[in-house]
Amino acid sequence: MHILLLGSGGREHALAWKIAASPLVTRLWAAPGNAGIAREADCAALDLADHAAVAAFCKANEVDLVVVGPETPLAAGIVDDLASSGIKAFGPSRAAAQLEGSKGFTKDLCAEFDIPTGAYRRFTAAADALAYVRARGAPIVIKADGLAAGKGVVVASTLREAEDAIARMFGGGFGRAGAEVVIEEYLEGREVSFFALCDGETAIPLASAQDHKRAFDHDEGPNTGGMGAYSPTPFVTGDIHDAIMTRIILPTVGGMKARGTPFRGVLYAGVMLTQAGPKLFEYNVRFGDPECQVLMLRMMSDIVPALLAACDGQLRNFALRWYPEAAVTVVMAARGYPGDYGKGSRIEGLDEAATIEGVEIFHAGTVAKDGAILANGGRVLNVCAMGRTVTEAQARAYQAVDRIRWPDGFCRRDIAWQAVERERR
Ligand code: AMP
Ligand code: GLY
Repeated sequence: MHILLLGSGGREHALAWKIAASPLVTRLWAAPGNAGIAREADCAALDLADHAAVAAFCKANEVDLVVVGPETPLAAGIVDDLASSGIKAFGPSRAAAQLEGSKGFTKDLCAEFDIPTGAYRRFTAAADALAYVRARGAPIVIKADGLAAGKGVVVASTLREAEDAIARMFGGGFGRAGAEVVIEEYLEGREVSFFALCDGETAIPLASAQDHKRAFDHDEGPNTGGMGAYSPTPFVTGDIHDAIMTRIILPTVGGMKARGTPFRGVLYAGVMLTQAGPKLFEYNVRFGDPECQVLMLRMMSDIVPALLAACDGQLRNFALRWYPEAAVTVVMAARGYPGDYGKGSRIEGLDEAATIEGVEIFHAGTVAKDGAILANGGRVLNVCAMGRTVTEAQARAYQAVDRIRWPDGFCRRDIAWQAVERERR
């Protein structure tokens, strides 16, 4: 099989690594890729916004399957455009990608199909939104409706913060994403990420994982794309797992089918484990980054038949096998991230770090130049490790981090602390 993978982050390096391990694959390309992905795939300099160019590349190279990593091309309808050129692509259609592309869309779907979530209202005018938050009080959550690169959510602990967020969103601070605003009840509880593979008709669970969104240790500092993750999470017990599947994931897949916009691809649910049971607070329509890295390490089965079954509506009798071991990934980012940061600093010691038992290093923002690996983005490396316990995986990952020489980088030192604390007890 010939496969083209779209994207250039740590998520895509992990996907490339897993896809390249499949005996079904004879050629693998990635566009645009990065210095790590280049070891698994041939990198092609395609502009992902130019769907016709991607389709032409697929025709010229007899690509059998396109795997789309990030949300932007999905929301722009790349899967629809490839399908109309007769090219099979893994990921949701533009209509189904609205589950991530519009917060209001998802909330309305929850209301229609009785999926547990916080109370909400949609607004297109600041005055109405302000009246609503003044009536409801804080804490309360203000969300720009559209894609805002992970920055469109304000969890307001005071009325003042809520009013400021509303003013900023309607004032154009979030561009088109903030033309509509969703105001949502604040959900209290532990937050988990849950992933399922969907084929338009049904869904099979992947594994649970937990991200660490804040930049610094002890969950302090600004929100980021994610500074590290681990899997499995001890907080998703068998009962909680079943409740998330039967009350959230399967009704979503059923609802999208009933509306005539079936969902195929990875459904990534942000779930709050509240006193009243699991409640959905957001969907993404792709793998999480860095959650994908730990899921790929733990997946025992060949991923390619699973991706094909999702595209073909054939997941009903499909099962995936997982390694029972835990996996941890620590993100190394450029100093200054998620704010301004420099590019071009040299990273050394990667090969030596990768020799530690159970360790795998996935690249995100890297570029190769004259035989050296240089930083080329905000999130730069994912230092991952497997272990019999989360504690062992965490120790190995930080042992590898300590062998990497990159003075311009930083990482959190407490990734997976919740699970480690629990294992200690
Ligand atoms: P997002 O940028 O969409 O991933 O959301 C950022 C964070 O906001 C999430 O990871 C949650 O911690 C938090 N959040 C979103 N919705 C709610 C809610 N209804 N109640 C409490 N926290 C929320
Ligand atoms: N790790 C968060 C995300 O992928 O959106």
